[in-house]
Amino acid sequence: MARSYNIAVIPGDGTGPEVVAEGIKVLEAVGAAEGISFDFTTYDFGGERYLKTGETLPDSALEELRKFDAIYLGAIGHPDVKPGILEKGILLRIRFELDQYINLRPVKLYPNVETPLRDKGPEHIDYVVVRENSGGVYTGCGGVTMKGTPNEVAVQEMVYSRFQVDRCLRYAFEYTRRRNRRKTLALVGKTNVLTYVFDLWERAFHEIGSKDYPDITREYYHVDATCMWMVKNPEWFDVIVTENMFGDIITDLGAITQGGMGIAAGGNINPEGVSMFEPIGGSAPKYTGMNVINPLAAIAAAQMMLETLSENRAAARIEKGIVKALERDIQSLAAGKMGLGTREVGDKVAAYAAE
Ligand code: IPM
Ligand code: MN
Repeated sequence: MARSYNIAVIPGDGTGPEVVAEGIKVLEAVGAAEGISFDFTTYDFGGERYLKTGETLPDSALEELRKFDAIYLGAIGHPDVKPGILEKGILLRIRFELDQYINLRPVKLYPNVETPLRDKGPEHIDYVVVRENSGGVYTGCGGVTMKGTPNEVAVQEMVYSRFQVDRCLRYAFEYTRRRNRRKTLALVGKTNVLTYVFDLWERAFHEIGSKDYPDITREYYHVDATCMWMVKNPEWFDVIVTENMFGDIITDLGAITQGGMGIAAGGNINPEGVSMFEPIGGSAPKYTGMNVINPLAAIAAAQMMLETLSENRAAARIEKGIVKALERDIQSLAAGKMGLGTREVGDKVAAYAAE
């Protein structure tokens, strides 16, 4: 019996539709090779729709999205829409309402990819950040008073429940065990200043780790120091677990060390529900429609989608396709400098992945 998946596709804004088209091309190619079929349903959420209708995500859409096996997202962000509206109204709303409480971000340098880290190669840069994706300052607890006066006060609090912390840590421990490399999980926090929130994280980390994951080595780093070590000694890391905002920041640093937004992908995971996969670069409006944007990040997001659906062979095919295209065909990851167009990169990866 052929396996079949229903995938919701949100191409979104700017170059989102172009890169998503290449991801779908590659999925179709590995699907044909592995006997998997995909049924794609496209949704037009994004800046254009918002400018036309004033609507970001209709409530009915959330109910529909819950019924898919996964969601594949291109990019959200439009130059004519005030920052925050689309991000909060679409991306963060889906993350929260579908309770995608993990943001998984692999940081892996492939051969032939240039890194700004001198003397570092693929053997040094290969780790995964498990970013908590449902809490922290992102929950929007807080408010503003006396706005526009000299007395204005604005508050945005870092809020965590033990429940949120525990489920994130358990996912990270399980992931570290499954990954089966150095079996080392590093908690990244700020226990020297944020003494309430990271005391909670640290206690939970050691309680859960010592009781249920004695095979996993536990480490702790402050977030500021982590930024230094990610540059100086990235080979120290196997799996990192951290809270939402810290994870947002350090994963952009991680992304640039693996070659930048052209290659970095992420998954918004609900281990018990519907997950959403995306390239982590933005909508790059100035490159829209030019066939110059790099689709590898979107293709890597499709790979993560297959891994999460437990289609590991098909996922490995995509990674093989990416690596071969990097070795043989792609000159640079930067938009316009690839030596190939967006569609041609997709063609190459699809062909290698299907071999
Ligand atoms: C990310 C992005 C989002 C975030 C923005 C677009 C809301 O930066 O996925 O890392 O802050 O989580
Ligand atoms: Mn970010």
